[in-house]
Amino acid sequence: MKGKLITLEGIDGSGKSTIWRLLQNEAIFCDCIFTREPTTSWLGDAVNRALHSNTDHITELMLFLADHADHIARLIRPSLESGLNVISDRYSASRCAYQGSTLEGLFDDPLEWVRSLHKGWTINPDLIILFDIDPAVAVKRCSTRKEQSKFEKIEFLKTVRNNYLRLAAEDRGKFVIIDTDKPLDEVKDEVFRIIAQALEVRKY
Ligand code: TYD
Repeated sequence: MKGKLITLEGIDGSGKSTIWRLLQNEAIFCDCIFTREPTTSWLGDAVNRALHSNTDHITELMLFLADHADHIARLIRPSLESGLNVISDRYSASRCAYQGSTLEGLFDDPLEWVRSLHKGWTINPDLIILFDIDPAVAVKRCSTRKEQSKFEKIEFLKTVRNNYLRLAAEDRGKFVIIDTDKPLDEVKDEVFRIIAQALEVRKY
């Protein structure tokens, strides 16, 4: 691929979506494609319907995967092939971390099973920035939002965080972990610097 793929990951309330929005206003990143999962397509709508109902966990995973496949075919692959850099708010690691938790008890190692479902067709990111935070702090941040996800519960997010940390430990070359329990400006500077360096754009 000619372009680079950078993904932002972390539990609900970790601050990644805020930083993703701020990145879009920064001139040095104006040539990047900004995207997210779940996407804004009809498949992303289906995912959101599942997220706001009692949909079975396997069904929910399959919807997330369908949205991911469409995302790759429609936007990620063509952009990277044409040399554009892509920055995505959530990507495959969200599935491994979240569905790795929702499917706990159904499989010996649900995270590994979810990861294996991506093999052979997904496009792996060049860099994954993990926004790491204590779930208690994250849930407090989420409580001021209008629309809340059914996943925003401390006990559940603790398992999701552990899954993220396991993914990072197993793939040290790809992951950068950032502690986001600090002022937004500090997180922003750190993330901007890491992305600028990865994309070899003028130093931030
Ligand atoms: P998102 O809209 O990114 O929430 P937020 O902006 O608050 O971070 O994602 C919605 C929810 O979907 C979020 O709780 C994480 C979850 N999710 C999964 O469980 N699996 C996935 O593969 C993805 C992409 C998201």
